[in-house]
Amino acid sequence: MDEKTFYYLFHKAHGANREQVMEAAKLSAEEYERLETSHAEEVRRIQQELPRAATIGPDFVRLTRYIYGGTSDQQLGKPCPEAVKAPSGEIIPLPAVDAIPVPEISLRQAISQRRSLRKYSDQPLSQEELSFLLWAASWARDFRSGKNIEVTFRNVPSAGSRHPFECYLLVNNVQNLTPGLYWYHPLKHGLIRLSAPEDIAQRILDGCMEQEMVVTAAVTFILSARPYRAVWRYQQRSYRYLYVDAGHWGQNIHLAAEAVGAGACMIGAFMDENMNECLGLDGEEEFVIYVAPVGKKEAGS
Ligand SMILES: Cc1cc2nc3c(=O)[nH]c(=O)nc-3n(C[C@H](O)[C@H](O)[C@H](O)COP(=O)(O)O)c2cc1C
Repeated sequence: MDEKTFYYLFHKAHGANREQVMEAAKLSAEEYERLETSHAEEVRRIQQELPRAATIGPDFVRLTRYIYGGTSDQQLGKPCPEAVKAPSGEIIPLPAVDAIPVPEISLRQAISQRRSLRKYSDQPLSQEELSFLLWAASWARDFRSGKNIEVTFRNVPSAGSRHPFECYLLVNNVQNLTPGLYWYHPLKHGLIRLSAPEDIAQRILDGCMEQEMVVTAAVTFILSARPYRAVWRYQQRSYRYLYVDAGHWGQNIHLAAEAVGAGACMIGAFMDENMNECLGLDGEEEFVIYVAPVGKKEAGS
């Protein structure tokens, strides 16, 4: 979905008139008429769901209490979903995790100096530094498979160690890595370059509502969730855990960034439809949940 369509749907569904929609979505008369035809059904659906959306928070918390849970797919003996989604492609190995030179920084210092950083220097991240960040937040230190179970263990906690995430990277300025879109393999500790349109950075910038740091950072991590990996075990309650788990991931990105003289800023304000489209995700089986640009600090910051 492009930005114009998003803003058309948003303002239209919230009752704006023709002129207001055209102005807010920066639409010509012709574009407006085209969207009126092609998206009439979607506007109706959003409008129908608006009252439910307005109260979904408390309902979500209430209805994901244990008391509403039933028999999980795991208990029913349904096949365990894969612990890691592996797109095909050549693996670009990252510097080995046990050989990464990382400046000493005390835990106290890392925690106390952490801030959301939105302005970065032009200095690239080294591959070692990128490797360290991924080690901290996404790397799988162990993989176990047994009778109908597949599980990874990582440097961040996750409910039932389901780690229902995939980590994508928009590489802007990392030494010896061509800018573009990548996927991180947590078992092989390497990257796979994904095919993406040439203007992928601009699309991600639009998807993140013009928050410039996604393109000025050396790298922008994009965490996606694959809920069934957790739902298989915890049913609908898993959706609570997704967001809690993502927070652990984000904090390790933050602290690891401090250790390499960099800073991060978590991003939750993005247009789901656009970001999912950037990564080729369907929005249900897998969807973007968190975005984290990381770049070197400017001198004196
Ligand atoms: C879930 C979450 C979503 C956030 N989304 C954004 C965002 O979209 N844009 C942004 O600039 N900062 C975002 N932030 C950063 C917060 O604004 C920031 O943590 C807060 O202002 C406190 O500042 P500090 O991190 O420097 O302590 C987000 C933080 C969290 C935890």
